[in-house]
Amino acid sequence: MSNGLQVTRAQSLRTHNTFGIDVTTPLALRVDDPAQLPDALAMAPNALVLGGGSNLLLVAAPDAVLELANNDISVIAEDDDHVDVRCGAGAVWHDFVMATLQRGWSGLENLALIPGTVGASPIQNIGAYGVEVMERITAVDAWDRHEARWLRFAAADCAFTYRDSRFKHEPDRYIVTSVEFHLDRKPSLRLDYAGIRDELATMSIIEPTARDVADAVIRIRRRKLPDPAVIGNAGSFFKNPIVAVDIAEALRDAHPDLPVFPAGSPGRRKLSAAWLIDRSGWKGHRDGDAGVSAGHALVLVNHGNASGAQLLDLARRIATSVHERFGVAIEPEPRIIGATW
Ligand code: FAD
Ligand code: EPU
Repeated sequence: MSNGLQVTRAQSLRTHNTFGIDVTTPLALRVDDPAQLPDALAMAPNALVLGGGSNLLLVAAPDAVLELANNDISVIAEDDDHVDVRCGAGAVWHDFVMATLQRGWSGLENLALIPGTVGASPIQNIGAYGVEVMERITAVDAWDRHEARWLRFAAADCAFTYRDSRFKHEPDRYIVTSVEFHLDRKPSLRLDYAGIRDELATMSIIEPTARDVADAVIRIRRRKLPDPAVIGNAGSFFKNPIVAVDIAEALRDAHPDLPVFPAGSPGRRKLSAAWLIDRSGWKGHRDGDAGVSAGHALVLVNHGNASGAQLLDLARRIATSVHERFGVAIEPEPRIIGATW
């Protein structure tokens, strides 16, 4: 450790990715303060920025990894109705959400219990239970490795769409150092996503607070998704495919129970990848230690010692079979290191 820059040689990443894939990186760097980034990058200019490792498939070991540990929360502006908050990239996302709710600030409650860090939240515009984080992000501060300078992106310049952003398109360029959020002091709760109202009713809650909504989301998530601490996984392995409306309608005519959702633009519809994979017969499938969750068809799981290559091979076979059966291309959500899709 020197000046808050921690250097570790030959570090296993098994506990640094939620698939639990055991690869060893020659060099792991950790910075307490983003000001140390230029020093860290002098040692490893192309280091993989590693948050919680919950959206990664490690097919090969990265040459170096870089973690940010800054996790401070500060208020930038506030009035009677709103508060603008900045959070360091290294903060655990769920801890940040709960800290905002604890202080009476709402807006992130539907995103409770998503694994990973605050710094990764804009990378794929995390979303769950009817809310995407782009609705609350106002600015992203980042280090631009190509230009060797600090940058500040307004939300409108982040190219946010479903599970996507400009940062995801240039993964080796920007290092997000902090994110700013616009939150409410007077909650406007989002309860329309399937299951939330029912869960609140089960909890005997009639007039929910934002914290109650977070608790309902946490209960649903714990029921639906396998816990990476118990079985390795990266959440949804595939994005829900977005297709032209006539394709969605033709598929719906042939398969009336296919879930079809709005896609944010009139001529497009979002299909359920879980349903397509489930109907292609993959749910619960297992090849050695690489498998598909028996509880949720969209989640690939590591039963113990699967390699990244084995999980990637399984994912490719799933995508091929869905394409052959339904004519729909599905694409991975996690970033794949050491191979291309
Ligand atoms: P990592 O996996 O460490 O990194 C992912 C990518 O982001 C990499 O390319 C990495 O280089 C980059 N990155 C990370 N931090 C930075 C940074 N500071 N600057 C620049 N690049 C960076 N996602 C959802 O959207 N909704 C869900 O409901 C959801 N549920 C999940 C449930 C489970 C059980 C799991 C395991 C995952 C789930 N995910 C979900 C996916 C994952 O939690 C998110 O994508 C999360 O934002 C990843 O954060 P991370 O810190 O773990 O990123
Ligand atoms: N379904 C099946 N089989 C299954 C599971 C689900 O057919 O095994 C069908 C059901 O009909 C269900 C539909 O798929 O109604 C949708 O399932 P779910 O509500 O679980 O949502 P999802 O589309 O699978 C998405 C996100 C999740 C997010 C939830 C809640 C993507 C790729 N995934 O999952 O995000 O938590 O909605 O909003 O958009 C992640 O990105 O890693 C992630 C977990």
